[in-house]
Amino acid sequence: MFSRNRRLRFSSSIRAVVRETVLNPLDFIYPIFVVEGIGVKEEISSLKGNYHYSVDMLEEILLQVKEAGIKGVMVFGLPKNKDSIGSSAWQQDGVVQRAVRKIKELSPQLMVITDVCMCQYTDHGHCGIIRNSIVDNDATLEYISKIALSHVAAGADMVAPSDMMDGRILAIRKLLDDNGHINTPIMSYSAKYASAFYGPFRAAAQSAPQFGDRKTYQMDPANIREAMREIEADICEGADIIMVKPAMSYLDVIRWSRDRFEVPIAAYNVSGEFAMIKAAAEKGWLDERNAALELLTSIKRAGADIIITYFAIDACRWLREGDEK
Ligand code: PBG
Repeated sequence: MFSRNRRLRFSSSIRAVVRETVLNPLDFIYPIFVVEGIGVKEEISSLKGNYHYSVDMLEEILLQVKEAGIKGVMVFGLPKNKDSIGSSAWQQDGVVQRAVRKIKELSPQLMVITDVCMCQYTDHGHCGIIRNSIVDNDATLEYISKIALSHVAAGADMVAPSDMMDGRILAIRKLLDDNGHINTPIMSYSAKYASAFYGPFRAAAQSAPQFGDRKTYQMDPANIREAMREIEADICEGADIIMVKPAMSYLDVIRWSRDRFEVPIAAYNVSGEFAMIKAAAEKGWLDERNAALELLTSIKRAGADIIITYFAIDACRWLREGDEK
């Protein structure tokens, strides 16, 4: 006797019934890029189908997010001015702070998460303060927490620090608590790797480092045990949700995290993963819908509870349209 595993594959109904991992709109967080100016809606060439919006133009995309059934967005800002300490990152009339206020006004139910980092705001493009030509960990903490507080003061429901400084979760938690924001969760980019797959994002956010690279603060792609230490430290410091980023080449990291920690796990399906599928689909080399849903399913199967993805809106539509094509 041998087992006839094919029995459970013969119709789309039976496949649906035995399917172990099912995507739904609640899995997704959609990233939104906000720019200064008025009347701006410009497609991001490295992230096809995603746009730079000025604050006054956000209504349309918020409607699409709502219709898709997506419950959360992640806001990224592109400021007008950059300087060595990223001072436009924590202004109350900064681009993210204005965007957050607008989104909460238009879509009060939508969960607004902000990316907390300095690289879009510094003229050197690094995620922290430079002292003696290195990114100075402890000097950066004060700035990162100040940025997080300014986002929460503007109405952000959750902050997501992506700078990878040691001790940032503790510093942010303390400053938020001291200012009465004890119930605002932190989603920590805990296991964030120094990845080549951020390329299209850096083009979109104009945040590429102007010298050197991010390898002294983001993780070495070769390491998984170290990722567990990062996550453990962040949970101890008060992170409510932890993140693994990128997702596609790090499914093992997501799985290890799922098996070891009891907090919700987010995975960031990053710009390079999105762009590869888009570009190949444009060439007719693979089917965008099927490739994207397969990738998103694999991220969820690996153990992610939350998937941050540029495919979010399209994926919800594909799921609505039907299971298989
Ligand atoms: C900011 C930040 C980056 C991404 C999210 N937040 C870029 C980087 O670390 O260089 C990348 C997201 C993506 O590639 O989709 N630090």
